[in-house]
Amino acid sequence: MPLTTTGGLVAEAVTHRGAVAAFNVVTLEQVEAVIAAAEAVGEPVVLQVSENAVKFRAGRLRPLAAAAVSAARSSEVPVALHLDHVKDEALLREAADCGFGSVMFDAAHLPYAENVAATRRAARWAHAHGLWLEAELGEVGGKDGRGPLDAHAPGARTEPGEAVRYVEETGVDALAVAIGSSHAMTSRDAVIDHDLLAALHERLPLPLVLHGSSGVADEDLQRAVRGGIRKVNIGTALSIAMTGAIRADLDTDPRAVDPRRYLTAGRRAVTDSVVRLLGTVAAAPLR
Ligand code: G3H
Ligand code: ZN
Repeated sequence: MPLTTTGGLVAEAVTHRGAVAAFNVVTLEQVEAVIAAAEAVGEPVVLQVSENAVKFRAGRLRPLAAAAVSAARSSEVPVALHLDHVKDEALLREAADCGFGSVMFDAAHLPYAENVAATRRAARWAHAHGLWLEAELGEVGGKDGRGPLDAHAPGARTEPGEAVRYVEETGVDALAVAIGSSHAMTSRDAVIDHDLLAALHERLPLPLVLHGSSGVADEDLQRAVRGGIRKVNIGTALSIAMTGAIRADLDTDPRAVDPRRYLTAGRRAVTDSVVRLLGTVAAAPLR
């Protein structure tokens, strides 16, 4: 199966009023686990590598990207590769020749005018190089180890009028919206503002993206997809599954040293988690 693009998968999601699930990966085992799960349920999937994952890999994008591209090419289902939460414009410029078809450029922490200027520059560059570009307005909290934003903090919610202007001014292909989810949650009790999502979906002419989806309960995830979310980003759920399984496996034998044993347990747990989440997202559209 050839490597596909996020733009193509999101366009299909728009057509059937569903969403594509996008999973953040840090290790080869997670790449393998996500693809195995997608194959098991027969759904396409997006593999995401974030700027933070690149930092973890000593600033090198290419090794993990090359592994993901290779795994995607031998997959039985369509797999796209997406560079996630990019702040560094030099990293953005590496995307195109590493197999990525899309990038999320993250200037959400900047004041509005600076966000627009940086994102418009990124979108122009991305489009000139055949890349689909996602951006964020209103800040989804919980990034880089910081706590969730208070619901009433400035920027904690995407304001529909400002979002319409932002999309016109930047020319982005998809918009990540702040509607109550937060990154890195280990409990699934985020309070999603479905009324705000409805207002954004009604006024914005492009696909909407939900970040921090690990903290969103199944029912809310499905309701958000029915309300206009077309890409669902999930990362922490995979870390919870993998680390829990590895911890349990090591606990069974404190003298074990072979990484294949605990990594097998970790990879299997990630596959199981992704199978469940893909099922939840796929079942969301009303038929
Ligand atoms: O961009 C990545 C996602 O927003 C992941 O968020 O780790 O809270 O699921 P999460
Ligand atoms: Zn995110």
